[in-house]
Amino acid sequence: MEEIRLQKYIAECGVASRRKAEELIAQGRVKVNGITVTEMGIKVTEKDVVEIDGKPVKKEEKKVYIALNKPVGYISSAKDQFGRPTVLDLVSDVQERVFPVGRLDYDTSGLILLTNDGDFTYRLTHPKHEIMKVYEAVLNGVPKKEDIERFEKGLKIDDYITSPAEFEILKCDGKTTTAKITIHEGKNRQVRKMCDKIGCPVIKLKRISIGEVDLGSLKEGEWRNLTSKEIESFN
Ligand code: URA
Repeated sequence: MEEIRLQKYIAECGVASRRKAEELIAQGRVKVNGITVTEMGIKVTEKDVVEIDGKPVKKEEKKVYIALNKPVGYISSAKDQFGRPTVLDLVSDVQERVFPVGRLDYDTSGLILLTNDGDFTYRLTHPKHEIMKVYEAVLNGVPKKEDIERFEKGLKIDDYITSPAEFEILKCDGKTTTAKITIHEGKNRQVRKMCDKIGCPVIKLKRISIGEVDLGSLKEGEWRNLTSKEIESFN
């Protein structure tokens, strides 16, 4: 955790300029962890409780919104019990503490969003918002017309019926099929289970968009900040 000088910390909290902060310290109006500090040199971290005139001041963390192209072989939670690499390893150059929004399987690649904004995560992951997610899937086999209709209408998986989805064949060589699949839910391994259900198991799966955010030209392992238009599109 970064250690910074008290006057700089106060200035970064947006409470006072650095010079004004020095005056406040000299006047004995600043406490760190309950103790009045009047000397200038001391350093603090975000764990310390800083008060001015008895009121706590906190550093407001800048909100960040990231689109990452997750390669296969990375776990999309913040920590893994088996010590496998996580998506956070791919954004280690981001200063803020971000978390993945929703999940993408270890064996799935493509678009995943990360943020430190809890409201944003809530908006994206709550089922009532029905955000559209698009996948490109390579499947074993060739689905029949009736299978595609069943896929699009709703399939019984585990204990639920999937909501309407889209299935568009992009390529087919008689043995495997490449399809663009659109769903509005995000149940555990949902696309894989839906494809299993129509007898065409997934060989390869990649997410190419979430709502208005496209993977675009991001290479595997690369990330970018969302544009303000993309962030606002989820409001
Ligand atoms: N559906 C899946 O089966 N896997 C994913 O990673 C995402 C959606």
